Amino acid sequence: MAGLIALALLLTAGCNPTDEELATRIADGIKAAVKNSDVPVGDLNPLYRGVWPSVFYVDPGDRQHGTGWLLEPGLIVTVAHLVEGRRQVIVRQATAPTFVADVVGSDHLRDVALLRYDPAQAALDPRAMPLPMGNATIDDIAKDLLALGYSGSGVKRLGTVGSPKANAGILSQITNFGAASYGRNLEMDAAIDPGDSGGPVLNRQGEVVGMVRAAARHSADGGLVVGTFYAVHADEIRTAIASIESGEQ
Ligand SMILES: *[C@@H]1O[C@H](CO)[C@@H](O)[C@H](O)[C@H]1NC(C)=O
Repeated sequence: MAGLIALALLLTAGCNPTDEELATRIADGIKAAVKNSDVPVGDLNPLYRGVWPSVFYVDPGDRQHGTGWLLEPGLIVTVAHLVEGRRQVIVRQATAPTFVADVVGSDHLRDVALLRYDPAQAALDPRAMPLPMGNATIDDIAKDLLALGYSGSGVKRLGTVGSPKANAGILSQITNFGAASYGRNLEMDAAIDPGDSGGPVLNRQGEVVGMVRAAARHSADGGLVVGTFYAVHADEIRTAIASIESGEQ
């Protein structure tokens, strides 16, 4: 961006501004651009830095990995399709040691699964805090969302995976697939990819309002879809967790 502004200024500036003049004009140009923009620059960064240690790489071992997040000490939430048929999964952290978690249960319709680990055995990153849950309604459409996930990430030496990726967007719509399907979902334009599934979708207050589930690929008439991504709605996550916990023997 600075390069483009510099070029534009050079073309209109007339003869030979000093480097100092040029630097001042470029700085003023950027300030004006930011001031006139409705999108504040970089302000999801404090949120990201507060929550990333609570986001985990969930490794089912026999298929594409996904993501999970800390609900409370001992409990991690992820998507059901990631852990289907598994009784245990490997949980990898950005920089802290790997641990094993049991699959407590899954709500397949809502695509929510609950994992349990022993807090006395697992050495979590000390900055990992349970993520509070929030809500999203149609009044929140066009508000910012931050999705975190481990798409495209690989396992490093010692089994760590580095910090998760940040994908920002807005709440595009809330859609209801019906009780016999995925229930209520957030539609968002935060671009998510394989590996991000199960990642938390946060509002600006740092509350989990959804969980990354899927990307739309084709419209009803077969056209290519590139900007529609689905997340399990917070209410469906709450309902699923309650039903998994109550069904536990
Ligand atoms: C979330 O918002 C919806 C829509 O307003 C509402 O029906 C639901 O009860 C809310 N959930 C919670 C937990 O407050």
